Amino acid sequence: MPEKKRIAVLGAGNMGAAMIGGILKAKVAEPGEILATTRSPERAAEVAARFGIRATAGGNREAAEQSDLVLLSVKPGVMAGVLEEIRDVLHEGQILISLAAVAPIRLIERLIARRMPVFRAMPNIPVVIEEGATAISSNSMATLEHRALVERIFRAVGVVCFVDEEAMDAVTALSGSGPAYVYMVIEALIAGGLKMGLSHEVATRLAEQTVLGAARLVKETGIHPAILRDQVITPGGVTISAIHELERHGLRAMLISAVETATNHSRARSRALLEQTRPPE
Ligand SMILES: NC(=O)c1ccc[n+]([C@@H]2O[C@H](COP(=O)([O-])OP(=O)(O)OC[C@H]3O[C@@H](n4cnc5c(N)ncnc54)[C@H](OP(=O)(O)O)[C@@H]3O)[C@@H](O)[C@H]2O)c1
Repeated sequence: MPEKKRIAVLGAGNMGAAMIGGILKAKVAEPGEILATTRSPERAAEVAARFGIRATAGGNREAAEQSDLVLLSVKPGVMAGVLEEIRDVLHEGQILISLAAVAPIRLIERLIARRMPVFRAMPNIPVVIEEGATAISSNSMATLEHRALVERIFRAVGVVCFVDEEAMDAVTALSGSGPAYVYMVIEALIAGGLKMGLSHEVATRLAEQTVLGAARLVKETGIHPAILRDQVITPGGVTISAIHELERHGLRAMLISAVETATNHSRARSRALLEQTRPPE
């Protein structure tokens, strides 16, 4: 593979655009070597202007044919159609990365009807501010060199973990969907502050920084969150009275169940997708 890559980003929406930012930051490709596609001409023009790259509405085949790395970031429902469109222009020496939630590598291999290095990545939305959490798995065609390249791209937009593909449903449930759970926590903390008479501005600033600061403390000290929580508690104090309330309403059990339910839902969606999708004629 050449040092600087030609890259096709098929579906330059929220995730696709964040990945273009990552590719440029990691210096994996020059802007002139990235070709992005979208559905609408308006979005193509927006992406082209933002990154100084070429972007077209449609043109997935041309983009895929000319590139060393194809990054698929369309919605899962559109994925089969796009793979069908490009499968006969895929060629030796290319890498395919799919961001599609619930789409197993087996399904992608079935749709492209060829053996090539395929990566499945599950990023989360904070990649747009380079604070993402991405888990990645691959098929057996992926070499260490491919893996290093893919890691470099995702590391530019946050933290990366490599996992076995069977863990991807749990990853989707924990970090893929996780920002939504944390937004609910922030929202509720703001509401609590408002209820107790804080202004919108003060409640919002304090709630967002509390979540950010607490997360950074876990990450930077490596101390288990249960120990950090204990350190905040004064016997007979304010915090333990709130924790009693959170335990009474089952906060931890609720979050554990949420991840369990979402994992099972992701598994069921993956199975259904595999059953519905026939190999190409
Ligand atoms: N968002 C998340 O938190 C998240 C997390 C993990 C994984 N993912 C995965 O990332 C993928 C993209 O999600 P997203 O949130 O970025 O969605 P999105 O913002 O809707 O982006 C999808 C993009 O695909 C384009 N598109 C639609 N049909 C196309 C076609 N036939 N050819 C080329 N481009 C086409 C759309 O173009 P227009 O803009 O012109 O309509 C849009 O720009 C999904 O597979 C999702 O499962 C998302």
